[in-house]
Amino acid sequence: MLVVNGLVKRFGGFTAVNNVSFEVEQGEILGLIGPNGSGKSTIFNMLSGTFPPSAGTITFDGSEIAGLPPHKIINRGIGRTFQIPRPFRRLTIFENVALAGYYGQGSHSLAKANDAAEKALTMVGLPTDRQASVDGLGAAGLKKLELAKAIATGPKLLLADESLGGLDETEMDQAADMLRKIRDELGITIIWVEHIMGVLMRVVDRVMVLDHGEKISEGLPSAVSSDPRVVEVYLGTDAHATQAAAAEARR
Ligand SMILES: Nc1ncnc2c1ncn2[C@@H]1O[C@H](COP(=O)(O)OP(=O)(O)OP(=O)(O)O)[C@@H](O)[C@H]1O
Ligand SMILES: [Mg+2]
Repeated sequence: MLVVNGLVKRFGGFTAVNNVSFEVEQGEILGLIGPNGSGKSTIFNMLSGTFPPSAGTITFDGSEIAGLPPHKIINRGIGRTFQIPRPFRRLTIFENVALAGYYGQGSHSLAKANDAAEKALTMVGLPTDRQASVDGLGAAGLKKLELAKAIATGPKLLLADESLGGLDETEMDQAADMLRKIRDELGITIIWVEHIMGVLMRVVDRVMVLDHGEKISEGLPSAVSSDPRVVEVYLGTDAHATQAAAAEARR
């Protein structure tokens, strides 16, 4: 479904993503992990058209999409969440999601947008009443709103950026289960970016690891979490989480 070849992003003289290639199969959940600043969000920004790659190709459903603007990429079926949720505070929860549906689906039909919002909110477990305010949402609620907005655009491929940041352990488990449910029930393929490895390893089919903008490992969770290169990168910063992930993946 997605074929990425030789992707590069330079910011001035700094290379944030260096010659990264990977593929995503229809129906899979691919985990994308790596330490802070390793280039995860930058890859999402190129896939979603926030900015063009410095080099490389991105083929989605057989056509080249590298460098297309965000609205064209959304219309082709790639939806994303943002690491830092910034909903429109003056709109209700429902309006935020319906707005995403209205522009994202490209049909510009209010009825379809409302219908998409209703379904997306139900999927993530947020209220579907038209009055509920964004101000009542905590960290977990805002993450759900991000997911609902992305789902309402009707994606075939969902790019979920750090859905677990700021959540406690129970909320993390719920969020992980929700991503799996989105894949299982809506048939949406997912790339999930996280740096909390443990929960991610339980849900993803495959995982790819970045360090300093380069791909250092890729494969099944059990193999990747015991890959010496991965353990080394996570040692010190996240050794405990890495071991927990390895144990989790072996179960
Ligand atoms: N628009 C930008 N302009 C300049 N540098 C940028 C820009 N966006 C990202 N970078 C730099 O590129 C590198 C990769 O950043 P990126 O946001 O992709 O990391 P990340 O893997 O998502 O990290 P985190 O886990 O902290 O979210 C960082 O050094 C960052 O400072
Ligand atoms: Mg990031």
